[in-house]
Amino acid sequence: MTVETRRMTALDLDAVQSIDEECFSVPWSRAELEKDLTQNPAARYIVLLENGIVAAYAGAWMVLDEGQIMNVAVRKDKRRLGYGKRVLSALVQYGANLGMSCFTLEVRASNSGAIALYESIGFIRVGRRKGYYQDNKEDALLYCLPTLPKAEEGFCEAETVSV
Ligand SMILES: CC(C)(COP(=O)(O)OP(=O)(O)OC[C@H]1O[C@@H](n2cnc3c(N)ncnc32)[C@H](O)[C@@H]1OP(=O)(O)O)[C@@H](O)C(=O)NCCC(=O)NCCS
Repeated sequence: MTVETRRMTALDLDAVQSIDEECFSVPWSRAELEKDLTQNPAARYIVLLENGIVAAYAGAWMVLDEGQIMNVAVRKDKRRLGYGKRVLSALVQYGANLGMSCFTLEVRASNSGAIALYESIGFIRVGRRKGYYQDNKEDALLYCLPTLPKAEEGFCEAETVSV
C-alpha cells in the first residue's frame, strides 16, 4: 500500500469536498473550497492519498509568520490509521518551510477526537471563545503550536512512503 502527502490541486476538489460533506455539520461548498484554493494567496492545502485516492486533507491560512489551521478531515472509513496526524504534520512542516513561526487553531469544545489529535502533535490550549459556533452556540477552544520543526528543503511537492 502507498501513502503519500502532497499539495492539493484543483483536480482534488471533488474528493476533498466529499470528505467535507461527510465530516462537518456545516461543510464548505465546492465553490468555496475552489475559491480558497485558487484565489486566496494565504491558503495552503495538503492532501493525503492512499493508493492514489484522497483519504484526508488539511488546510491553513499562512499570514506573515503565523499559520491558522482552517480544516483537517479524514474519510470516516480511514480514521485511526494515523492519517490525520500525518496530513496535519505535513501541513505544519510545509508552514515551517515557508517561514511560519507558529500555528493557531479553533476547535469545537465537544470535538474530543480532534483535540486529542492536536495535543498529540504538541498544540497547547491557550483560551476559549464562548458561543463561537453560530449553528449551536458551542464554545471554541483556542490552541497554539508555538514551536515548529526545522525547515526542510524541497518538502511537499510530494512525499511518498510504502507501508
Ligand atoms: C479528528 C480527525 C481528523 C482525526 O483523524 P484520524 O486520522 O482518525 O486521527 P489519527 O489516526 O491520526 O490519530 C492520531 C491521534 O489522535 C488521537 N485521536 C484521533 N482521533 C481520536 C478519537 N476519535 N478519540 C480519541 N483520540 C483520537 C489519538 O491520540 C491518535 O493516536 P492513536 O490512534 O495512536 O491513539 C478525524 O476524526 C476527522 O476527520 N474528524 C471529523 C473532522 C473534524 O472534526 N476535524 C477537526 C476540526 S477542523
